[in-house]
Amino acid sequence: MDEDLIQLVNKLQDTFSNLVYILGGELDMPQLAVVGSQSAGKSSVLENIVGRDFLPRGQGIVTRRPLVLQLIHTPVPEPTAGSIPSTYTEWGQFLHLDKRFTDFHEIRKEIEQETFRVAGQNKGISKLPIHLRIYSPNVLDLTLVDLPGLTKIPVGDQPSDIERQIRSLVLDYISKPNCVILAVSAANVDLANSESLKLARSVDPQGRRTIGILTKLDLMDAGTNALDIMTGRVYPLKLGFIGVVNRSQQDINVEKSMPDALESETDFFRNHSAYRNIAHKNGTKYLAKTLNQVLLNHIRDKLPDMKARLNTLMGQAQQELNSFGDSAIYGDANQQGGLVLRLMTQFARDFVSSIEGTNVEIS
Ligand code: GDP
Ligand code: NA
Ligand code: MG
Repeated sequence: MDEDLIQLVNKLQDTFSNLVYILGGELDMPQLAVVGSQSAGKSSVLENIVGRDFLPRGQGIVTRRPLVLQLIHTPVPEPTAGSIPSTYTEWGQFLHLDKRFTDFHEIRKEIEQETFRVAGQNKGISKLPIHLRIYSPNVLDLTLVDLPGLTKIPVGDQPSDIERQIRSLVLDYISKPNCVILAVSAANVDLANSESLKLARSVDPQGRRTIGILTKLDLMDAGTNALDIMTGRVYPLKLGFIGVVNRSQQDINVEKSMPDALESETDFFRNHSAYRNIAHKNGTKYLAKTLNQVLLNHIRDKLPDMKARLNTLMGQAQQELNSFGDSAIYGDANQQGGLVLRLMTQFARDFVSSIEGTNVEIS
């Protein structure tokens, strides 16, 4: 995520957390959820968004329980003598386990074990989510949801109505109006068969909160390309389609690093004859940028409401103060009115300065 956005949102959130006591509202950031067929690359895309390696990925059914991943911004602690190492400023904590994970490989292992524990060893799925919190100075307070892939034919321990079960599970998450849907489709499969787009359309018919993500562009047959899809000529979505190239299974096997993978991806788009001209509007970095914009728009949409509520409260406080008389206005420490006035003024000042100090465009 863009560092400026992280700072901006945290500044807003600090202000809002003070206001919450009075306004009874929160900034209420959107959830992001991935939808797509099995092995389309959902977990890979989420991992790229977070910028860390920690989700189980692979061929076949790997994600068998929803993973509700709550990112929590934590400031970097002041360095002091004998303080904990800086890597410890980023850690994971599961809801089901009282343990702090600082090694992200261990987080992956724990997700796998916890999946086995509840969903069994043999391809079964469970609706019961795994809750994981990641505390980091490099993230926004945001919830990402990794979901089992849409599938048609039961395998292993899966019940005969597996298709319906997974659809209903996915719908639980993506039907929330506050959910940004990352509809993942693999470029080496015909888009007309894309289950993710069909399901996304059923809850977001106008395509307002759906981002189309096209994975596996590197696996398309020689001589074919997805230019028409990526430029929005095939399927209309307000937020558009973004092509990405995630790590292949071979890359995962040899533990190709995230920075190396991002570099290969950039090279792929720049050097591809069909994509060269739209390279700047594709790839993981552009996806992160687009998400930032979606989040900014969301905040922008919430600001007028917060402002209006604040104004109303200011008006009410003023009236209350008038009824208290001079001692309130001059701030007699024993008078509640004086305290209210000081608090309100402070909140209002913080609130306005946090809005004015930002690049949030209020159009
Ligand atoms: P999910 O089942 O939708 O969560 O998919 P995963 O993220 O687990 O990926 C499934 C498999 O596809 C893994 O082996 C990935 O390495 C591979 N994969 C995902 N995206 C891409 C991509 O863009 N290109 C290539 N070559 N492989 C990919
Ligand atoms: Na998979
Ligand atoms: Mg997955």
